[in-house]
Amino acid sequence: MTPHCDAKKEDIAKIVIMPGDPNRAKLIADNYLENARLVSNVRGMNVYTGTYKGVEITVMPSGMGIPSMGIYSYELFKFYDVEKIIKVGTCGAYTKDLAIGDLVLVNGSYSESTYAKVQDNVDDDIIYASDYINFYLKETAEEMGKHISIANVHSTDVFYEENDSIKENAINKYSCMATEMESFSLFHNARKFKKKASQILTVSDNLITGEKMNSIDRTKNVNDMIVIALESAIKL
Ligand code: HPA
Repeated sequence: MTPHCDAKKEDIAKIVIMPGDPNRAKLIADNYLENARLVSNVRGMNVYTGTYKGVEITVMPSGMGIPSMGIYSYELFKFYDVEKIIKVGTCGAYTKDLAIGDLVLVNGSYSESTYAKVQDNVDDDIIYASDYINFYLKETAEEMGKHISIANVHSTDVFYEENDSIKENAINKYSCMATEMESFSLFHNARKFKKKASQILTVSDNLITGEKMNSIDRTKNVNDMIVIALESAIKL
């Protein structure tokens, strides 16, 4: 038990799928897991453990933003002995080449966030996903006939009115193709605890064209990403 999760240690699987949204965690548990049971509901962050094709999997929401993901991923790795986390979420594209609904597999997470510095005195501004998990995420997407772009992303603290010069710096410095809000603390904590983490994203906004997914599609149009994450999780 931690301040933010009252599941028993044995009720959390070694592999965790993390959407940002608690409703999406419920949707994954209801539609994809067998024998899913609610193992924690602190702050309405409903955590489910069940099986997918016979493999035990936990689905836990991260909430929005680097600090929220930082708390949950820290506790999962340190106190629950979780080995691997796959984050599923949405992102805003920084290029016209990514359309609404396209899939992105994150390579590196670039951020101005002070999370790594404040927690562990780490100055890195880019932290990488697990090559091992990414291999299976890419392979699974290919087996399903789904195109997935492998890209660096900008992990930002700002959803509205992100400063253009900050966006351009992320594009120029590390060729970031999209922006999201959680990968930096997730990848930092995975590296700190010698665990593995990756992130697969669906494009919900295009910051160049102004196109957006509506809130209903934001919740629903993510099935391919969820299946890719689950099918990869059982190979790990
Ligand atoms: N910015 C940051 N994170 C996001 C966005 C965005 O535009 N869309 C989905 N996640």
